[in-house]
Amino acid sequence: MTRPHKIELKKVGRTFTGSQGDKIEALRDVNLEIEDRFSNDGKDVGEFHVLLGPSGCGKSTVLRMIAGLDSPSAGEVLVNGRKVTGPGADRGMVFQKYTSFEWLTVEQNIEYGLKLKGALEGESRPIVAHLLEATGLEKFAKAYPRTLSGGMQQRVAIARTLAVRPQVVLMDEPFGALDAQTRHEMQTLLLKVWEESASTIVFVTHDVAEAVYLADRIYVMSARPGTIIDEMPVPFARPRDPALKTTGEFRDQEMEALTRLRRAAGGGQVRVTI
Ligand SMILES: Nc1ncnc2c1ncn2[C@@H]1O[C@H](COP(=O)(O)OP(=O)(O)OP(=O)(O)O)[C@@H](O)[C@H]1O
Ligand SMILES: [Mg+2]
Repeated sequence: MTRPHKIELKKVGRTFTGSQGDKIEALRDVNLEIEDRFSNDGKDVGEFHVLLGPSGCGKSTVLRMIAGLDSPSAGEVLVNGRKVTGPGADRGMVFQKYTSFEWLTVEQNIEYGLKLKGALEGESRPIVAHLLEATGLEKFAKAYPRTLSGGMQQRVAIARTLAVRPQVVLMDEPFGALDAQTRHEMQTLLLKVWEESASTIVFVTHDVAEAVYLADRIYVMSARPGTIIDEMPVPFARPRDPALKTTGEFRDQEMEALTRLRRAAGGGQVRVTI
């Protein structure tokens, strides 16, 4: 029996109607196949996929369609071989804006999805405790998200999303609003908490260094109408740590990704940090 693709986009197009009734073709003919990956002993190990593209090329729209928050005008989006018709517990999403529940404390936020799934307190307590520890939020367990810095709030969002162990985690420029130092810390923190989960991540960014540091595979998108026009495997072993970014091999991969992005982007805006 052949296993269905974890995520599959088949000739996906998306046209929006603007405020003047004009048509905006955001995406055209997007094809993407993301496989489930298994270790030698048959364990689902998940992979880190990055969508890299210039601003306005449709990255968020692709992610929203996988999440079931938007639907294609043409083609099909499938998760585990089933057509996506709406959001589901198998997919978690982290946005650029901090989206934790303001009226719940940090630990209640992390626990929220577990409660929704019907987990008993005895089951959720060790999961919440572990995530608080892994994300460095132990001291802030009883705090409300709005009292925390942007980086801390994104830690809450990541912990809250990973708590329910979704098969697929969709992240839309989650570190885009953070300062450079915090952004670097958050990348490493994300890798640490993700590496112990089996989730497949699809992470959107227009930052080349971020893409190379995080990804097993980078998909390069063209400017509007957006489509995936290139694919680049990233060869670095895991676990990865920040020292990787200072190596010549890392710079080479960054240059490679940048060249492919420039080729794809035309006149679009790309973030260049080298
Ligand atoms: N609801 C909508 N109505 C009209 N146009 C839209 C809508 N959503 C997106 N668009 C347009 O579709 C195109 C793709 O948008 P999208 O937000 O997916 O791009 P993006 O790559 O995520 O951009 P950014 O890098 O700025 O986040 C843009 O031109 C945008 O203006
Ligand atoms: Mg976007």
